[in-house]
Amino acid sequence: MTRDHDARDSDDRAAAAPAREDAQRLTDGGGDVAAGADDVALDPWGASTVSDYRKLFEEFGIGEFDDVLPEVPNPHYLMRRGVIFGHRDYEPVAEALREGEDAAVLSGFMPTGDPHIGHKLVFDEIIWHQEQGADAYALIADLEAHSARGMTWGEIDEHARDYLLSLLALGFDPEEGELYRQSDNRELQDLAFELGSKANFSEFQGIYGFDGETNVSHMQSVVTQMADILYPQLDEPKPTVIPVGPDQDPHVRFARDLAARMRFFKVTAAYASFELTEAERALVAAVYDEREAYADEPGRPRCEEAGAWLAAREELDDLGVVAGDDVRDSAVEKLENGGMEPLRPRVRFLDANATEAAFEALIESIDGEKRRYDEHVDAFDLDAAEAEELARQIELDHGGYGFVPPSSIYHRFMTGLTGGKMSSSIPASHISLLDDPEEGYDKVKSATTGGRETAEKQRELGGKADECPVYELYAYLLAGDDDEFAKEVYDECVGGERLCGGCKEQAAELMRAFLEEHQEKRDEVEGLLDDLDVSLTSPRRGVAPGDE
Ligand code: TRP
Ligand code: SF4
Repeated sequence: MTRDHDARDSDDRAAAAPAREDAQRLTDGGGDVAAGADDVALDPWGASTVSDYRKLFEEFGIGEFDDVLPEVPNPHYLMRRGVIFGHRDYEPVAEALREGEDAAVLSGFMPTGDPHIGHKLVFDEIIWHQEQGADAYALIADLEAHSARGMTWGEIDEHARDYLLSLLALGFDPEEGELYRQSDNRELQDLAFELGSKANFSEFQGIYGFDGETNVSHMQSVVTQMADILYPQLDEPKPTVIPVGPDQDPHVRFARDLAARMRFFKVTAAYASFELTEAERALVAAVYDEREAYADEPGRPRCEEAGAWLAAREELDDLGVVAGDDVRDSAVEKLENGGMEPLRPRVRFLDANATEAAFEALIESIDGEKRRYDEHVDAFDLDAAEAEELARQIELDHGGYGFVPPSSIYHRFMTGLTGGKMSSSIPASHISLLDDPEEGYDKVKSATTGGRETAEKQRELGGKADECPVYELYAYLLAGDDDEFAKEVYDECVGGERLCGGCKEQAAELMRAFLEEHQEKRDEVEGLLDDLDVSLTSPRRGVAPGDE
């Protein structure tokens, strides 16, 4: 996170935005004008730093988590404190949790090193969703670690075990949830193969920058991850959330695309027999609403009447749609070509991948008035939700998957204790869940802070909690569920009452205690490992490809 504004700035912000009255929430580090778009390139295998989280909203269409927060029952502290800052389509998951309906959570871990406190965020997110009633899945991304990171099977086995132990120690319930490794899950591989038939190499080039030098197993690991993301829906389609860092967003978007491409039918709204683009459809919907203004018989507005009326309008603004002239022109043309055909709202089922039997069965099952065309069927007495449900049911009955597009939530990357990025390859920058508690204590004690040069200045100006890796430790981990405590640290820091020496001592002691307790729990749950379906040693052989 770029640290480019001082504590006073964030106070102003908190004051300006009443929703953020909880001043200890993390500010978004925005406003770094010098940072180019490269700083927010989302690359799953590159160095992931995000200098400006706001760009993720603007450029990548990630939603702000704050907007869904009120819909989340019993939100986790990482949600309340803005550590989980973004999402894609989380609403259906929140709703399912609220209503006690089926939902799932899944995330995956590349066993490239020790699990550290950054991974703990994701473990906690999985466990929280499990506690809220979701089916929980966690996987070891060993195929990816081998093919994309060049890890040997021996290394992978060693680390895989450590991830699983920490996840169990933090409270994952293996009886309710499922743990697996990519390499020994046959069902997963079968799904990956099916999804692969809907993906092609130019997409890999466009999305991931793959080229002629990329090894084929790496590509296979991508379709495997797509299968991971949809795996919880193999039993039954359901809202599924993938908690990850924003570097994984390209994977999430691709999985959402593939999920849609696998569907038998595409359900859309339509107004007449011909097809409209999405933009045209919004415009025609608005024109339909104005039918009293132009139709001879308002109960039966004709396409050509609507077309002539639309063509004659100077302004589209008051129709409540934003559409360019090109959209208007093409909509007018289509309407005029429609001639005397009445404009009538309906839901349309387009045949995307359906077998003939499925298409026939769908037509058969539509209640009320329907009209059949070559590639689609229109239903006049169904609403959109009923149509969606019917399409999914027919698909499931005819051997399809009926996937719901997967959702995601994104957490902030933790800042390294030495400043910069927290990285597994720089031991002093992170705290491993396996670190000796004394070592954890020492690392916190030597961490960089957002403190001023002298105690005097600190008392006068206050510390910069928003730029302080130690404050982050409190907010992300050490304060646990205790918002009061996190707020107290923040307020005391920016108010100049808290000095870094004492603050770090307190954090270091808490870290030591956390590690002691976590490691004790790891020992306690060791026995659970044997009961898991996951094999802890891989029978695989082979030389790891070079790191890409
Ligand atoms: N690619 C992820 C990483 O780099 C690991 C992963 C594999 C994953 N499959 C997944 C994450 C499915 C979320 C969901 O860490
Ligand atoms: Fe960071 Fe604590 Fe110093 Fe504030 S007082 S800058 S939170 S170490």
